[in-house]
Amino acid sequence: MGYREIYEGWKSNPEGFWMQAAEAIDWVKPPSRALWSDRAPLYEWFVDAQVNTCWNAVDRHVEAGRGQQAAIIHDSPISGTRQTITYAQLRDRVASLAGALSARGVTKGDRVIIYMPMVPEAVEAMLACARLGAIHSVVFGGFAAHELAVRIDDARPKAILAASCGLEPGRVVHYKPLLDGAIAQASHKPDFCVIFQREQEVAELTPGRDLDWYGFQAGTKPADCVPVEGNHPAYILYTSGTTGAPKGVVRPTAGHLVALNWTMKNFYNVDPGDVFWAASDVGWVVGHSYICYAPLIHGNTTIVFEGKPIGTPDAGTFWRVIEEHKVRSFFTAPTAFRAIKREDPTGALIRNYDISHLRALYLAGERADPDTIEWAQRVMKVPVYDHWWQTETGYPIAGNPAGIEAMPVKIGSPTVAMPGYDVQILDEGGRPVADGELGAIAIKLPLPPGTLPTLWNAEDRFRKSYLTTFPGYYETGDAGMKDKDGYLYIMARTDDVINVAGHRLSTGGMEEVLAGHPDVAECAVIGVADELKGQLPLGFLCLNKGCERPHDEIVAECVRLVRDRIGPVAAFKLAAVVDRLPKTRSGKILRATMARIADGQEFKMPATIDDPAILDEIRESLKPLGYAGG
Ligand code: COA
Ligand code: AMP
Repeated sequence: MGYREIYEGWKSNPEGFWMQAAEAIDWVKPPSRALWSDRAPLYEWFVDAQVNTCWNAVDRHVEAGRGQQAAIIHDSPISGTRQTITYAQLRDRVASLAGALSARGVTKGDRVIIYMPMVPEAVEAMLACARLGAIHSVVFGGFAAHELAVRIDDARPKAILAASCGLEPGRVVHYKPLLDGAIAQASHKPDFCVIFQREQEVAELTPGRDLDWYGFQAGTKPADCVPVEGNHPAYILYTSGTTGAPKGVVRPTAGHLVALNWTMKNFYNVDPGDVFWAASDVGWVVGHSYICYAPLIHGNTTIVFEGKPIGTPDAGTFWRVIEEHKVRSFFTAPTAFRAIKREDPTGALIRNYDISHLRALYLAGERADPDTIEWAQRVMKVPVYDHWWQTETGYPIAGNPAGIEAMPVKIGSPTVAMPGYDVQILDEGGRPVADGELGAIAIKLPLPPGTLPTLWNAEDRFRKSYLTTFPGYYETGDAGMKDKDGYLYIMARTDDVINVAGHRLSTGGMEEVLAGHPDVAECAVIGVADELKGQLPLGFLCLNKGCERPHDEIVAECVRLVRDRIGPVAAFKLAAVVDRLPKTRSGKILRATMARIADGQEFKMPATIDDPAILDEIRESLKPLGYAGG
């Protein structure tokens, strides 16, 4: 069957489609039906099932004779190490870790925060929680202590699992002091922390609170898999919204298993036993779904890569990993390819490697620009598939379903909607627009299995953020269009979220930090175009009346403040001091207009603008920073 037949088949019988996909999962008690809609517009899937994620990702493969197959390959050009963990070893390691957590009182429903770099122990920590039915929340290592503290207070974890350090090129990231700082700042205190000591930096443990990763496992009994209900939260993953308070996206257990497993063959086109590589980080949704869970649920080998596309040691690293581990399907963000292209424009380094096992490259996380796609096609000589999704969905909304049928690629489009997603382009009144017209991208409810049923502790925010603007639809926050063949085009966000090197960041969150600087009276942060990272944040600062301090001093302090509060991942380095900000007569800051000026794009003068002359001042302030034609 081709894509269109399968898609139409899903549309005519969505529940039948997902019940069939559910047959690939090992249930303790199978679901009696697929969809629960009694609380519509809140929906849940496979609610009355009993199942365990870790069993499906690990143990069942050992039982089925895959014990000696590599489950995880850790490849760390930063530390110069490689390690292979078979499914049998993974089961023993995870059961042991889960047993030790259980001995310390972690049980089903307890939250556990994981703050770890790209080491196999991070994946094992996630699986150990899943084994017990504990709800993990992984926090990306590039966030500062304050962001970790915010997540500790929201998730209220019983335990925190962390590493002593992370490794960035040329610098050790001191995780332990960040963790200590976060716990000191948070009102909620975990019962205990478990620290994985890396040889690059051994952290000092806080007596009475911190335990050593291996030490605390000694003498404890390995834990068995605990069955949980189908709608039990598998994890919480915080993502950026319009304010500084991150949204805790909840992932339901059963739908997550069913949908992720379905994508591995139908979408990423791998068979059990194949090597699958997602070059991302376990702190992001790509890492959750496609470094940890999906490849393991499907019986693939997953690569945990601790390095960068360039500089570890060079722009040939990706090719080396693909050759050495015989990668079949490869997934990363376009920014990584822009970095490689900049370093090695002719793709000379790829000639040193044999990447013939690779079938396709999958790009997501941000808009894939045509130049990057064409370059990747040219040097890699494999199909390059853009695909579009978000933390909230957990797996592709739209893409090229290569395992079903490779659709013709239209560069600039992540291809077509996946079964499960009825994607519509709506005007401001919520009416579908004509093909080729721009609008807000929305998905007809219900969303498919595995997508977020709610936000952690914030059902009202869930309704307001996603379900209110277009009744009957989920609002994606993206704008774009659909062509006559049903191909989607994702153009921009409709909110104040920006995308920096494939990382989703809140400009509102940065504004909250800048507003805390004692000399800043008012501020605005926008995303400006950047050749490497796609977008970069840029701040406008209005200072308090009478402030005579040198502007570059204040800018430097603001840059430091964002780095200290949000973290290096915010990549906030550009700011201009201005006298005033352009606003509408009702006082709304015209961020989108400023962003268009910065990028040298045409814009329509907003009819409600208070004083158009301010836009010239904004343009002048941007020029010294290299924007607005400067
Ligand atoms: N822990 C601590 N710090 C981290 C970190 C982590 N896990 N990840 C990134 N950082 C730091 C970086 O060291 C950098 O710090 P600096 O300001 O001191 O240089 C800062 O955060 C910004 O990081 P980043 O935006 O990633 O820029 P970079 O210059 O280090 O690297 C790329 C640029 C393009 C090579 C890099 O962004 C990349 O490989 N991106 C791939 C995209 C990706 O994986 N996206 C995930 C979603 S699919
Ligand atoms: P995240 O939740 O961090 O995965 O970020 C999701 C957001 O990244 C989406 O809502 C889009 O704005 C953007 N995004 C992800 N993939 C793509 C893509 N293929 N094309 C355009 N934008 C994308």
